[in-house]
Amino acid sequence: MNTLTEKEPQKILVTAALPYANGPIHLGHLAGAYLPADIYVRYQRLKGRDVIYICGSDEHGVPITITAEKEGITPQQVVDKYHYMNKESFEKFGISFDNYSRTSLPLHHQTAQEFFLELYKKGILKEKTTKQLYCENDKMFLADRYVEGICPVCGSPGARGDQCEKCGSWLEQTDLIEPKCKICGSTPVIKGTSHWYLPLGDFQKRLEEWISTKTHWKENVKQYVQSWFREGLQDRAVTRDLYWGVKVPIEGVQGKVIYVWFDALLGYISSTKEWAQKIGQPEKWREYWQNPETRLIHFIGKDNIVFHCIVFPAMLMAWNDERDDKFILPDNVPANEFLNLEGKKLSTSRNYAVWLNEYLEKFEPDPLRYALASILPETKDTDFSWREFQARNNNELADILGNFVNRTLTFAKKYFGNKVPEIFELENIDNEMISKLKEYADRIAENYENFKIRDGVFETMNLARHANKYFNDTEPWRTIKENPKRASTTINICLQTVRALAILFEPVLPFSARKIWKMLNLNDDIVKSGWDSAYQLSLKPGHQLGEPEILFRKIEDSEIEREIKKLKIASGEITEEKIEFKPQITIEEFQKIDLRVADVVECERVKNSEKLLKLKVRIGNEERQIVAGIGRHYSPEELVGKKVIVVANLKPAKLMGIESQGMLLAAVKDEKLTLITTLGEIESGSQVR
Ligand code: 2FM
Ligand code: ZN
Repeated sequence: MNTLTEKEPQKILVTAALPYANGPIHLGHLAGAYLPADIYVRYQRLKGRDVIYICGSDEHGVPITITAEKEGITPQQVVDKYHYMNKESFEKFGISFDNYSRTSLPLHHQTAQEFFLELYKKGILKEKTTKQLYCENDKMFLADRYVEGICPVCGSPGARGDQCEKCGSWLEQTDLIEPKCKICGSTPVIKGTSHWYLPLGDFQKRLEEWISTKTHWKENVKQYVQSWFREGLQDRAVTRDLYWGVKVPIEGVQGKVIYVWFDALLGYISSTKEWAQKIGQPEKWREYWQNPETRLIHFIGKDNIVFHCIVFPAMLMAWNDERDDKFILPDNVPANEFLNLEGKKLSTSRNYAVWLNEYLEKFEPDPLRYALASILPETKDTDFSWREFQARNNNELADILGNFVNRTLTFAKKYFGNKVPEIFELENIDNEMISKLKEYADRIAENYENFKIRDGVFETMNLARHANKYFNDTEPWRTIKENPKRASTTINICLQTVRALAILFEPVLPFSARKIWKMLNLNDDIVKSGWDSAYQLSLKPGHQLGEPEILFRKIEDSEIEREIKKLKIASGEITEEKIEFKPQITIEEFQKIDLRVADVVECERVKNSEKLLKLKVRIGNEERQIVAGIGRHYSPEELVGKKVIVVANLKPAKLMGIESQGMLLAAVKDEKLTLITTLGEIESGSQVR
């Protein structure tokens, strides 16, 4: 257990892996790092702890230059586009970074260069002349993803210069079988170049000793690190022959940059420096990074474990030697496994992903936060499915939490003048509900402290389940007539529970929590009110409540089917339907159709028909009767007063014995139908062409 009971640490420094600014954020990113970190940080803020949440865009590395070359733009244009896009998506999704920086900032370049130089001057970085793959056609060394070949370890094709994704081996590019330049496809030659290496082996003993104290770390993380130790740590090159990145700060060295991982990890420090500058206390970052009382916590996906548990600690140890301004090492690295999508591996290159910016155009953030938090891949890979997302929203958020909040508030409005009613005599069932508030607040906290975010979220919904049961069992709709004091007591406790749920759900559902706060007409800051005030029954009798609103709308089947279809097209399971157009017509043929703007004057249902509506429309000064098959899509009331488009010269026909003197225009797809209307002001009778 790693609870914060004995000696409260002064500060908590939380980081989430810096995402590459070469594409939008997707659900895998969110479930891996940003969402669990956000829930943890929001919980700690509610607990009143001094916590900061640091992140930013990783703007160097070959993935970015390759994107730039593919799209025919500069690397700076690539990172500008995605940095701002991702920053905005994170904000809209409620990820509450204290700072979201970027590694292209001069402040970051200085920080990375200072660090590199310190290690260089101490003689830790070793210069070695090595043989590297060079493309004579493109006149460049083929670092990392610029070269692909067959993996020398597992034999699969498509292995990159630094890593085989298939078997996970960290490779030396000269060992690749049949290497090919990724830009032009030609076979590279071998050419000598020199690079600086971080001798990880020299740090192995210290790293092993340090990690042996981390008994509270997650099993998967410890095992991963042990397997690296067993293989023996090797020297790793920390420079590259590339033009995009942080320039190697050694005098006389040109055309070389610092390896992206070496600089990205230091991005946590430079982002904290930027945060300190922004709040006008430029040295304040040291109170976190250089304070042995601070707990440093890195939220990452499993593919980043080696960098956060071995490379970064080794870099920090190297800096710390013989210095007074020592950096702290991570206290915990709660790395997550991967998230799959509808039973398949996510693939950004095949567009088999759910992109956050696209999600946010269609849905609210909280339902996704809740659905993902419920399936975080904490101990094994998990699977996101749209149907489960819909079920979590409709059956849990709407039917359990939303329902409890709504029934409580509407009851208070109807029977107690929209004020908090009084508590009279407490019965066992009431005392039990009240004690549940503390029980759950403590249990959820315990889970969050131990990085069991999923369990914490599950328990929070259990409290809402319990609250509904309390409402049902105390039957206020019955006691309001027979024993109004009982109803008053029940509704008081229910309102206190609504308030408790807003606080305890705030880490997961920050937007909905604030909506509930508003419905309770509370004006203080929900975060400042504090986690432990959840069970303090602080709503005073007589307090005026706000207006009850629907908290979660139900998500329709058609919305889910649309998303599933998109993924099936991306995975090649189905192909996009091709539209079959009708044979061409001439303009003269088209002009034979007399289309007119009409006002709907009257409308009623046709007796014994679900489908048909009978409308009276006015076209200029002429009235017409039209029968239309739109009864399943519109009610008569919503059409009266609207403008429609009518085929005015269609031969009259009879539908169920009623004459129809024209036809309405509508757009139709599958089961969906929407009437065509006019966008701006225009008189009825106007021609449509
Ligand atoms: O794997 C990645 O997406 C990297 N951009 C993560 C960097 S984490 C840290 F070094 F900042
Ligand atoms: Zn080439």
